[in-house]
Amino acid sequence: MENNAKKIIFSGIQPTGCITLGNYIGALKNWVELQNDYNCLFSVVDLHSITVRQDSALLRKRCKEFLVQYLACGIDAEKNILFFQSHVPQHAELSWILSCYTYMGELSRMTQYKDKCAKHADNINAGLFTYPVLMAADILLYQTDLVPVGSDQKQHLEIARDIAMRFNGIYGEVFKIPEGFTPKEGARIMSLQDPTSKMSKSDPNENGFISILDNPDVIVRKIKRAVTDSDNVIKIREGHDGINNLINIYASITKKSIADIENEFDGKGYGDFKQSVAEAVVEELRPIRARYDDLINNKDYIEEIYKNGAYAAQKLASRTLSKVHRKIGFVDRKY
Ligand code: TRP
Repeated sequence: MENNAKKIIFSGIQPTGCITLGNYIGALKNWVELQNDYNCLFSVVDLHSITVRQDSALLRKRCKEFLVQYLACGIDAEKNILFFQSHVPQHAELSWILSCYTYMGELSRMTQYKDKCAKHADNINAGLFTYPVLMAADILLYQTDLVPVGSDQKQHLEIARDIAMRFNGIYGEVFKIPEGFTPKEGARIMSLQDPTSKMSKSDPNENGFISILDNPDVIVRKIKRAVTDSDNVIKIREGHDGINNLINIYASITKKSIADIENEFDGKGYGDFKQSVAEAVVEELRPIRARYDDLINNKDYIEEIYKNGAYAAQKLASRTLSKVHRKIGFVDRKY
């Protein structure tokens, strides 16, 4: 992280459910590309995950598994800062401060909040409401230039920018105003069972998503069962969400253009195409699973990574937080 000319990227995935092919194509695969040209912080955002009740033992295990999956996907612990959000207390501290510069009205407009309230009507906690403030803290703590996020997070990024501008408007240039970053490649990957909704990590229907750790048989089965129509035409067409999704998956993995794929499968049926998609996915994920199996029991190595990550992240975060404290008027810490 020596090169100060490089721009800063922050992103994170919540440790809920399992890392899916959608996360891989939409996020992790791009992170791997970004790590050479940017100074990147990639976090397992565990604080965010507790807006929904989690089993303690499972959460602890899953957090480590997620970190190892980052590594298995090719994210280099030497080049990036990898850490658990809860290990850097500045996230929670800044989040409180920023919540005092965020309006109830702004937060009430967040569509994800409204969706989550509908889904978890029995647990509409304050954390669910202030979630975007914590996300703003994640981003602003590191003077982040670019935030790679999917379209579902655009609104949250927008509010982070608004909060930053408001704060800067009062106190001067404290925060860098972050920009969204949409990679060239990487369509939004949809559920295999309901291709009108995003492939979700926490989908109760296991056939809807592919975990990046699924074994080949499972991958083949899930793709064969993917919902399509009865047209048997392999072309991107509006309203044909199921086949469009499979074409997008195939394109993202093989790096072939849509036109080439449409040509290649002209006159062929869904059966043939699904077979090809399944093979491509199996081969893409095979080395990831192998690396994961290699690393997951190496407790010392994993610990070393998240210890160093937290240390490096804290160092950067505390710089921003001290500045914020000074601007607000808190007494300087003498320890
Ligand atoms: N809210 C994001 C999601 O659910 C995860 C996240 C938390 C995040 N903090 C972030 C993403 C900061 C980018 C930057 O996908």
